[in-house]
Order: sequence, then C-alpha cells, then structure tokens
Amino acid sequence: MDASAPIGIFDSGIGGLTFANALQQLLPQESFIYFGDTAHLPYGEKSTAAIQAYTIKTIDVLLKYRCKAIVIACYSASTAAYELATEYTASRAKVISMIEPVVDYLATHYAHKNVGLIGTKQTVSKGILANKVHQVQRDIVVKSLATPLLVTMIEEGFFNNSISHSIIEQYLQQPILQEIDALVLGCTHFPLIKQEIDLFYQQHSRSVTTIDASMIVAEYLKDYLEQHHLLTLSTEKPLRKFLVSDYTQSFEASTTIFFGEQVQLEQYRLWE
Ligand code: DGL
Repeated sequence: MDASAPIGIFDSGIGGLTFANALQQLLPQESFIYFGDTAHLPYGEKSTAAIQAYTIKTIDVLLKYRCKAIVIACYSASTAAYELATEYTASRAKVISMIEPVVDYLATHYAHKNVGLIGTKQTVSKGILANKVHQVQRDIVVKSLATPLLVTMIEEGFFNNSISHSIIEQYLQQPILQEIDALVLGCTHFPLIKQEIDLFYQQHSRSVTTIDASMIVAEYLKDYLEQHHLLTLSTEKPLRKFLVSDYTQSFEASTTIFFGEQVQLEQYRLWE
C-alpha cells in the first residue's frame, strides 16, 4: 500500500463533507477524494439492497483512484453496507464506517449510561449501532429515534431558525429520548444542528452531551494509518477532489455550509 495514496470519502450526498472537514483539520497533508452519490440521495429511505449496490459502485470509483483507505461517511450506508464493503474491498483498501469508532468511543466513555441516537430510518431501524455497543459493553442502554425530517430540513437550509428550533424540539421531547446522558448525532448532516441541540438541552436544564463523531472517526483513521505506517510523508500540496453522481448548482452552493468553504464539484456518473 502506498502511503502517498489518497483517502476516499463516501456519502449519499454532501453531508459527509462534515467528516471531510474534520479530516482536513486533523490530517491537512493527506490527499482525499470525496464521492457524494447525489443521484441516489437520500439513502435513509432506501432499501438495504439498493444502498449496498450504490456503495459497491462507489467503492469501485474510489479504488480506481487507488485510495489507501475508504471512509463511509454516511451512517445509513455504514449500517447497510459496511460488512459487504469490507469483504468486497478486501486487501485493496481499509474500509472504515462511522459506526465502529462511535462504538469504541461509547464503550470507553459511557459505561453504565443511557445514550440516545438520532438518525435516518435505515440507521435506526437496523439497530446496528445499539447491537455493536451491547457486544462490547452490555450495560449501556441505547435509545434510538428516527428523525428523517432533520435531513430534509438541513438540506433545505433550514437551521438556526424558528422552524428548525421547533422541529428539533418536537423530536428531542419524544419520551424515548428522556433520561439520556448523551445523544449521538447519527447522521453526517447533523453536526450542522449541534449548536441548536445543545441550546435545547441548556434551555431545558438538562445535562446531555451531544456527540458529533466527525473528529472521533478522523482520529480512528489517523490511528489506523499511523499503526500501519500509512500516513503520508509528502510535503506537496495535497489533492482535493470532489465528485458527485449528479451535479447541480445548488449542491455546489451547499458545500459551503457542510465543508466551511465552497468547493468545485465534478460530475461522475455511476451508471453510464
Ligand atoms: N448522510 C446520511 C447519513 O449519515 C443521511 C442522508 C441520507 O438519508 O442520505 O445517514
């Protein structure tokens, strides 16, 4: 494996740019190729079989660029296709999902605690994160709630306003999310509403820690690359490439909110 090879990052759309941003902060010298499968967005509502097919197609693209590691920066795809992606990729690249790093983190920091999880229908209904947490730490209670409106809301640019406050409030007041010590933002779109969620808990005098796993996953990747002597030694300007399966100007404009700066998206059709 070549240490100067890029890291592949994959999401159903541009939400995974929140992870790309964390990676850029932690490992600024690493090159990366981002692939947003905007033609098939949203994954959260799709069948497992469909998400698996999209994931394998995307992995083929990232392997063409000889990525040394591929991060599935989407909880829905991590839920539906991580095992398959790992088997399919085999020794060609290391595959990392959003779920394993979060499971490790919870097992280390939240033993004997109640942890909430919000995410898409796919992520919540499969219960993968809760099952994996129980395998390593039986006494963590995971209470999950599907919050599909939050993805649409964020994509429409509705956050930090009265509409988003009220939708967030409706979800967080659901009985299942009471008595929790921490809340996992189980969707790569949700770091954008972390402040609003924190504000909700402050206003309700509740001490709940909101967990945005972007940096946790970036640290996990860094540890892996370090242990396998795969951190780049290059001092040249790192490659940044942003591919989407369906280009629109509005996706490109939205990159600013997810990545912190506007980037140029290139169209790369998965099925020609
Ligand atoms: N970014 C996806 C995730 O983390 C959510 C958006 C979608 O439904 O495709 O689950």
